[in-house]
Amino acid sequence: MRSALLLTSFAASALALQATPLARRSLSFGPVLPQARFILDPPSASLAASATAGPRALAIQFVNELTAQYAGEGHSYYIREDSYTDPRTGVSHFYVRQLVQGIEVADGNINLNIRDGKVISFDADQCASRFPQFYRGEAPPVGISPNTGLSASQEGYCRELRAQFLQPMRAGGGQTTLNNNAHLQRIMNIHDSNCLVPSEHLARIGNPKDDYSDPARAALTFMLHATTDQQLASDIANNFEQRLAGAQRPVRAHLAYVQAPMEDGTTELALVWKLEVELQDNFYEAAVRVSDPSVIVQVVDWVSDVGVDSHRLGRPGGTYNVWKWGINDPDCGERSVEESPYDSVASPLGWHSMPASKDAKSYNKRFAKDTILNITKTYGNNVYAHEDWAGRNDWMDNYRPDGGKDLVFDFPYELKTDNGTWADPKSYIDLTITQLFYTTNMIHDLYYRYGFDEISGNFQQYNFEKGGKEGDAVIANAQDGSGYNNANMMTPPDGTNGRMRMYTWNVHGYPYRDGDLEAGIVIHEYSHGLSTRLTGGPADSSCLGWGESGGMGEGWGDFLATTIRSVKKYHDYPMGSWAANETNGIRNYPYSTNSTINPSTYKTLDKSGYFGVHAIGEVWAEILFVVEHAMVKKHGFSKTLFPPIPDATGKYPEDNDFFRPITYDAKTNKPTSPPIPKHGNSLMVQLVFDGMKLQPCRPGFIEARNAIIQADEILTGGENHCLLWKAFASRGLGKDASVVGRTPWGGGVRRDGFQVPTKCEE
Ligand SMILES: *[C@@H]1O[C@H](CO)[C@@H](O)[C@H](O)[C@H]1NC(C)=O
Ligand SMILES: *[C@@H]1O[C@H](CO)[C@@H](O)[C@H](O)[C@H]1NC(C)=O
Ligand SMILES: *[C@@H]1O[C@H](CO)[C@@H](O)[C@H](O)[C@H]1NC(C)=O
Ligand SMILES: *[C@@H]1O[C@H](CO)[C@@H](O)[C@H](O)[C@H]1NC(C)=O
Repeated sequence: MRSALLLTSFAASALALQATPLARRSLSFGPVLPQARFILDPPSASLAASATAGPRALAIQFVNELTAQYAGEGHSYYIREDSYTDPRTGVSHFYVRQLVQGIEVADGNINLNIRDGKVISFDADQCASRFPQFYRGEAPPVGISPNTGLSASQEGYCRELRAQFLQPMRAGGGQTTLNNNAHLQRIMNIHDSNCLVPSEHLARIGNPKDDYSDPARAALTFMLHATTDQQLASDIANNFEQRLAGAQRPVRAHLAYVQAPMEDGTTELALVWKLEVELQDNFYEAAVRVSDPSVIVQVVDWVSDVGVDSHRLGRPGGTYNVWKWGINDPDCGERSVEESPYDSVASPLGWHSMPASKDAKSYNKRFAKDTILNITKTYGNNVYAHEDWAGRNDWMDNYRPDGGKDLVFDFPYELKTDNGTWADPKSYIDLTITQLFYTTNMIHDLYYRYGFDEISGNFQQYNFEKGGKEGDAVIANAQDGSGYNNANMMTPPDGTNGRMRMYTWNVHGYPYRDGDLEAGIVIHEYSHGLSTRLTGGPADSSCLGWGESGGMGEGWGDFLATTIRSVKKYHDYPMGSWAANETNGIRNYPYSTNSTINPSTYKTLDKSGYFGVHAIGEVWAEILFVVEHAMVKKHGFSKTLFPPIPDATGKYPEDNDFFRPITYDAKTNKPTSPPIPKHGNSLMVQLVFDGMKLQPCRPGFIEARNAIIQADEILTGGENHCLLWKAFASRGLGKDASVVGRTPWGGGVRRDGFQVPTKCEE
């Protein structure tokens, strides 16, 4: 008999997760789906003929072939619109989503990479090498009209809902159309025929008490379980009916299938409401059973803890008195005055300008659409930085320092008051916000130069008509009052603002240290945004939820923070040591190539204490650190990670010491192949970014390793193939490394593998 292995009910998972020693509680779990396997160089002989038809046609043909065995009645798929071709590497990343009876299978994904008319990699089931992670059984006979993806009753409900909501607006007079009414847009997700749940309106429509086809009920049931606010929970429980009428933030809801794994290795479909629920401290993407919303099938928290030529427009640069890029914290160096630090390729309008129509602060919309705003405060196209002492979710009009028309942000940092006591961090808020604004913008600019750009889902209000979804700069809360001794980042899909909350630290009681001033913590948080948007495509924020994938989400942040602060002379580096006032930082070990100092290997994940994502991430960051230093040993070290700025014709300065010699196409002036960073540290950063784009949704360490090795194949023709294998193998991630019995929250048994491919043996 087939039986479901794991369709988690909330009670069990809550117990498993309560131990999180953080002020902010977070849920994250899902069905034990087969681990993705990353298939490199799949045989695609039958496709050779169509190689000239372009990558999209090739992708369709490949997926058709892959799914031919079970593409019966009711089965289909679509290519997600966040798929893109990376102009630097020429790799097309296609994100394919399965549809069954017109309903999306939320975890039915194929991530397909195509280059030079060939599929170079895709993800498949662990066991059946040519099966994608698609549901392969019969399509269930549900009464969903294929046009809308909604059941007949659901369709009526949405129609009624719209009518209900439109009426008062029509009555209010005027020509209200769907497109120009921002409020309506917020309430209902018209374009893909799904209802958003405006709970303040739903009750009036009046559903029978037990009608769980009502997404509002599903949302409330979920919130009842998920909230940490006891008051809110009992309020919802005691006033469930009234609560439906109470004002909540609109919750986005749509019908979907989620796969439930069966003992025989196949999957079964569960019909769920996929809900996007924002609570005070979490932004959940949850899937709850339509037939019983108390069964939470999957939940991912979008919040993670710390744990071109337009540059000739000549925008104002700004002057900032800050701990400059590379200085990790106030103990590592003095402040200096940095003039015009922005990178004109990444931020063509500088850090303080954007078209008026793109500003989230709607009162700036009073300007003509194409007016370029000259903002004198700490916000702009990439970041809105401000205080949030009250720890609230409002942010538009929070306090921000003003640099005046010359954009001079020079503020005092006095740690002691006149009478000799430690100063309240609030007394230097101007400096704090300036530093946070500077650091986050530098991260934006650096990551942009390694390929975290508009089409791959970066964070910008305005995308310069370069593709991707805009309107999503990072909201950066300085000295956020909602917690201490931590930091977190919320990463919704591309097109919705990310939110970073930085806290003060009081580990040793008074005085507080201000996390905003430790660049490593800011870099760690921003990197959640990077890895979440690059893995599995910009529109899917659920690929790094838990286990090894969630752990790597933490690990990339530590790795990048450590790499950015690294200097030519080798050092070990702790993480978060300044904010926490702990020599060895907030992880188990400092990052070190010396295995006496940091003994982590792949197998370390099986130890007790390696349950949580931060401990898992520490192991991943250590492995990357070791690999990077093997690269530095071979290729040397670049003092800066910022590539040079190309000239107006697109050529890099001849004498630059950053890239290997570049050849340009005589006609187009474009490099004939992607420029290759010359040094070990910069090349490693590039491979890590390119690897994130190649790897599948929910990768494990093994898939991420393979993606980095494939990235090297693409960029350098594989010149570091054996070096990379050897370095990964030195920490147990060689070709014989393996994992069995992974569970959603980690677990599983791993084997360290120290072997390398035969051609790399000496
Ligand atoms: C912003 O400054 C530019 C000159 O740098 C000016 O042309 C433009 O009118 C200014 N925009 C506004 C809204 O004042
Ligand atoms: C020291 O000065 C600060 C403000 O400058 C004040 O808040 C604090 O109460 C003073 N402490 C003592 C012990 O006088
Ligand atoms: C850091 O910790 C030490 C004790 O370990 C303490 O003496 C010192 O005052 C602390 N410094 C700050 C700024 O918290
Ligand atoms: C590694 O660290 C240990 C402990 O600090 C030290 O004894 C050893 O010499 C180090 N090894 C190398 C190669 O630096």
